[in-house]
Amino acid sequence: MTIQWFPGHMAKARRQVTEKLNLIDVVIELLDARLPLSSRNPMIDEIVGDKPRLILLNKADMADEKVTEEWTAYFRGLGIRTLPIDALSGKGVNKLPELCRELAADMLTKRAERGMQGRAIRIMILGIPNVGKSSLINRLSKRSVAQTGDRPAVTKAQQWVKVGDTLELLDTPGILWPKFEDQMVGLRLAASGAIKDELIDFTEVALFVISYMMHYYPERLLERFKLKELPEDKVAMLEEIGRKRGCLISRGEIDYDKAAELFLRELRSGKLGRVSVERPIDWEMEEPIGKPLM
Ligand code: G4P
Repeated sequence: MTIQWFPGHMAKARRQVTEKLNLIDVVIELLDARLPLSSRNPMIDEIVGDKPRLILLNKADMADEKVTEEWTAYFRGLGIRTLPIDALSGKGVNKLPELCRELAADMLTKRAERGMQGRAIRIMILGIPNVGKSSLINRLSKRSVAQTGDRPAVTKAQQWVKVGDTLELLDTPGILWPKFEDQMVGLRLAASGAIKDELIDFTEVALFVISYMMHYYPERLLERFKLKELPEDKVAMLEEIGRKRGCLISRGEIDYDKAAELFLRELRSGKLGRVSVERPIDWEMEEPIGKPLM
């Protein structure tokens, strides 16, 4: 799932995306609703240029609805149309064709003026690994009448999938890299499950989420771990979780790593409710909530 990105790989990914973009009328930028900026490619504006673009905040079923509204307003402020969706259940996805038509309106008018009519609006999905690109393509293609097959202008490996009457979707997504050199971005991605577990330090990631939740979702922690009040800090909270879940080494000592892993599994499976791990305000703070002391 996780791709190791090296400068050569990034250049190749960018080249592949740029080649595909030549065929495209509207770009669908797919982000994780729980961590929209952290699941975003840092060079996306440069890569997409002036192409009409729609941001889809995927996995909205797992994100805090209020925070998703904040993000929608945030991207609207940047002049980008934004729609929360859930690619698995399909919630919100039915609004996509109409939005793409609106975004392609100028292009369609110009095309009509030149006497070119009737061609479908061509779209492609762009995003970092694990954000739900394949799920969305599957969801959209299920609704399609049929695959249209190879077209002369397209390389053999790519196919267009019909989505309703007016859209054609490129069946291979564009894969881009996140801003992984930023420590907070790495922690949010790891919390969401976007980084292979073998590559993450469970304790560090869990301590980030715990401090974020102690600030924004204290009642969830109290309820889930049946506590009367929150412990004094994040380490004490992790200890408490370890005790409640029986993560002990010998003589009653807490196995922090085990407790952290269990906590992250509960988070990712939705047992702690809908949790967003990033808010627009986090990017305005010098010391975002949950930033490790280092
Ligand atoms: P990708 O092509 O961008 O790499 O992502 P993909 O569609 O493979 O989705 C990655 C994981 O996210 C999958 O879980 C998928 O089921 C889940 N997912 C995608 N869209 C949504 C959504 O809207 N809501 C929820 N709740 N989950 C979504 P997985 O197969 O279990 O993989 P993993 O979690 O083990 O990595």
